[in-house]
Amino acid sequence: MIQDRTISDKTKAYAVITGATSGLGLAYAKWFAGKGFDLIITGRRRDIIETRAGEIRETYGCRVDIVLTDLAEEAGVQELIARMDGKPVDVLVNNAGFGLGLEFADLDVKDIRRLIFLQTSAVAELTYSVLQGMKRGHHGTIINISSDGAFAPLPRNVTYAAAKRFLVTFTEGLHMELAGTGVQVQAVCPGFIDSDFHESAGMHVDKGRKGMFAFKKPEAVVEEAMKDFEKGNVVSVPDLPGKFIKILADFLPKKAYYRLAGGFMKKIL
Ligand SMILES: NC(=O)c1ccc[n+]([C@@H]2O[C@H](COP(=O)([O-])OP(=O)(O)OC[C@H]3O[C@@H](n4cnc5c(N)ncnc54)[C@H](OP(=O)(O)O)[C@@H]3O)[C@@H](O)[C@H]2O)c1
Repeated sequence: MIQDRTISDKTKAYAVITGATSGLGLAYAKWFAGKGFDLIITGRRRDIIETRAGEIRETYGCRVDIVLTDLAEEAGVQELIARMDGKPVDVLVNNAGFGLGLEFADLDVKDIRRLIFLQTSAVAELTYSVLQGMKRGHHGTIINISSDGAFAPLPRNVTYAAAKRFLVTFTEGLHMELAGTGVQVQAVCPGFIDSDFHESAGMHVDKGRKGMFAFKKPEAVVEEAMKDFEKGNVVSVPDLPGKFIKILADFLPKKAYYRLAGGFMKKIL
């Protein structure tokens, strides 16, 4: 359970949010600032993250440390670990992520390596670095941002979906290991979010579209996921299409699923 921490709280703790320049990470940063946490936020776009950090300080009166670092590289992960060292980190949100909008064979192999590192090794190393402290303190929260793509393999989403699947399996395993320690973990599997994600990946999407696959505001995703967290739901699928996609992927005969998913991707991108 997330404990509210006020400015006068002598045990004021840090929430660390990776990828808080925009989108979901920024929404998580505001959510935890609203609960009275100090923040360590990361990103690479200096001007934007500094502006956002200033707005958060002004609105919530909390401390906001910025770590400008590339988490798709080992050196960047080590830099963040060093900046967290000695600080009372009570929350870690492994959110930083990017997509690759092409078929696997058309990608640059460096981008494939970077995506896999960011979504697997970086998350595992950051989690490892805070876990002993959380266990000693009998309290902590680790949230890993996956995707509804974790349940549904799709063309032009091959590496991303496989890496996001790692995050679900990793989180569920940790949940079992951490039973009784006071450390709570969650994997969040959203659908389409109105953020910088698709533009960064060079994907052309209609963010104004309505209906089942409408883009959701990052703040709404965080609210739903945190409600799930309070209920103790280890895997949160915070919107209806995601729940529907999971059922389709789990229960449709494989051949029917491949036909449907392939056609869907052509239509949506
Ligand atoms: N948008 C969607 O439809 C969607 C759906 C399901 C899941 N998700 C997941 O939600 C998470 C947040 O994405 P978003 O939608 O909020 O997109 P976003 O607005 O593009 O935010 C992504 C964040 O990750 C950071 N980031 C990307 N690559 C990084 C790297 N190599 N090193 C450090 N930071 C990096 C970005 O910071 P800088 O650019 O400043 O480096 C940015 O702060 C991601 O894990 C994504 O996979 C998104």
